[in-house]
Amino acid sequence: MYIEALAYLTCPRDPEAPLELERGVRLAADGELLAGRLRCPACGARYPIDGGIADLLGPRALPDSIVQVTNFLPPIAWGYERAWRPRALTLLSGEPFGYARELPLIVGLAAPERGGLCVDVACSNGLYARALARAQGGAAGHVIGVDHALPMLRQARAFARAEGLRISYVRARAQALPLASGAAAVVAMGGSLNEIGDIDQALRELRRTLASSGRCAMMCLAQSETGPGRALQGALGLGGVRFPPLDALNRRAAVAGLRLRSQWRYGVVVVSLLTR
Ligand SMILES: C[S@@+](CC[C@H](N)C(=O)[O-])C[C@H]1O[C@@H](n2cnc3c(N)ncnc32)[C@H](O)[C@@H]1O
Repeated sequence: MYIEALAYLTCPRDPEAPLELERGVRLAADGELLAGRLRCPACGARYPIDGGIADLLGPRALPDSIVQVTNFLPPIAWGYERAWRPRALTLLSGEPFGYARELPLIVGLAAPERGGLCVDVACSNGLYARALARAQGGAAGHVIGVDHALPMLRQARAFARAEGLRISYVRARAQALPLASGAAAVVAMGGSLNEIGDIDQALRELRRTLASSGRCAMMCLAQSETGPGRALQGALGLGGVRFPPLDALNRRAAVAGLRLRSQWRYGVVVVSLLTR
């Protein structure tokens, strides 16, 4: 993580309590905080920074579904963007949908060039975090990627550093984001809502952390409209992946206080812009 993230990071137990950096940090040549400790002045909790990643969860935070367990496996984290992710939306939507189409769509909705904090929630290898950081360019702000799986975050950090992008990666749960209310100009989520666990709490956290002028750009998967598609989704459901009908998903976002501004559907792939 980078020092810029300190302007935004708060305690996951008390999201209005800013975290402080304890003395004795180890820095990389570009100023990245490689090792050290964060402390919550309100509750006294201490959180390690190790290998450039702030861990706000600790060793007892375990995945709670089969699909979440897979994300904690280093070979899956290594192969995620190398093998699956570039093809994912083409396979899922049934039409050509590579990064050249997906990323401008997400970045266009998020508008990170406005500056401020951009957060990629449940970021895996940080695909959206990198796209947001590139588009944010010289604007004042910072990009933070959050995930609960350390192997995913390690790979995300390696990809960002290889591109020379200053992105802070933080281990935390989407249901307890370590950010003050209204802190984020952008929250982005790519395909994660389907396997996040408590969807409604995750939606409430997206709403809580979004600034009044903030934009939430989300890609997620809806229930298939075909019989075979639903049968396959039913089987994946056994592993913990959920595919709610789109109208139900939109109702749940509305109940969480997120207003749907625009939405596009490509097969089961849904891209949405939400605001407060
Ligand atoms: C489908 S992948 C995300 C893909 C990524 N956003 C992208 O666009 O390439 C799902 C990710 O969500 C993470 N995840 C699942 N549940 C989570 C939770 N409750 N809190 C934080 N991360 C979570 C997993 O570790 C995994 O990396």
